[in-house]
Amino acid sequence: MKGIVLAGGRGTRLYPLTKSISKQLLPVYDKPLVYYPISTLMLAGIREIAIITTPMSLPLFERLLGTGEDWGVRFTFLEQDEPRGLAEAFLIADEFINGDPVALALGDNIFYSAGLTGLLTEAATLTRGARIFASEVSDPTQFGVVGFDRDGRPASLQEKPPRPASNWAVTGLYFYDRHVIEIAHSVRPSERGELEITDVNRAYLEAGTLEVIRLPRGTAWLDAGTVDSLLQASQFVATLEARQRMKLSCPEEVAYRKGFISREELLALASGHQDEYGAYLRKISDGDQ
Ligand code: DAU
Repeated sequence: MKGIVLAGGRGTRLYPLTKSISKQLLPVYDKPLVYYPISTLMLAGIREIAIITTPMSLPLFERLLGTGEDWGVRFTFLEQDEPRGLAEAFLIADEFINGDPVALALGDNIFYSAGLTGLLTEAATLTRGARIFASEVSDPTQFGVVGFDRDGRPASLQEKPPRPASNWAVTGLYFYDRHVIEIAHSVRPSERGELEITDVNRAYLEAGTLEVIRLPRGTAWLDAGTVDSLLQASQFVATLEARQRMKLSCPEEVAYRKGFISREELLALASGHQDEYGAYLRKISDGDQ
């Protein structure tokens, strides 16, 4: 399975923070925001990852991430010149996807829970249909929302509905079979002028091949799209990391634990980092975690 991190957009809700730098390069405590969705895909076992971003930010992402070789993955950098909607990711990445199943991770979504790796690796074996993840939220009007029938099966999908069918928000992590490209081609711009991912998901729902996994209680799902949510995300990561003496969504660690890189390669990475981050990677390599 291939992976896409969508890291474009104007980031206007974060101005002036994002006037000269992409939102997904801003720090969430000890690492850039984009490390989190990249780690999510890597945890799923995905090693071929396209990063889609704006022409202005693309060289910065290249500088931050390089070829991916250091982490045992391969990055491909693609441009989205205007934010025409999340579903455009599949059109931009058509050649990269090359007929394979594909996972899309939004560049500002952070996931954390026990048991997440299992859910992700399972999802990455998908070859037919689509699988998405829903999380219970207090204000679903700001998200894609999934409604369920009496038997708990997904029955409806709406993008930012004023009267939501449930409190279950669709999170920014989606797994699709190879048909996603033709489906994305058939999607027309919505009233707000975007190619909506919700329309892609609805096509799978109508075909009876959409699976919705409800994330269990205790799963943290954060989208760092506003000044407040960005701060909250940093505080969340800082609190958890201090308390548990471990790092959240540290791609170097994920690469090592998934067997993408060797102990020697991890140690080589440690030497290139600031003290605390480097010390952590050394500790991991000692098996002290
Ligand atoms: O976070 C989950 C939500 O993400 C879902 O519940 C919604 O169904 C889905 O539409 C999306 O809603 P948002 O309003 O959060 O999407 P937003 O426009 O903020 O875009 C999400 C990220 O993708 C953001 O970091 C910017 C980036 N983006 C967005 C668009 C529209 C792009 O890179 N390109 C784009 O064309």
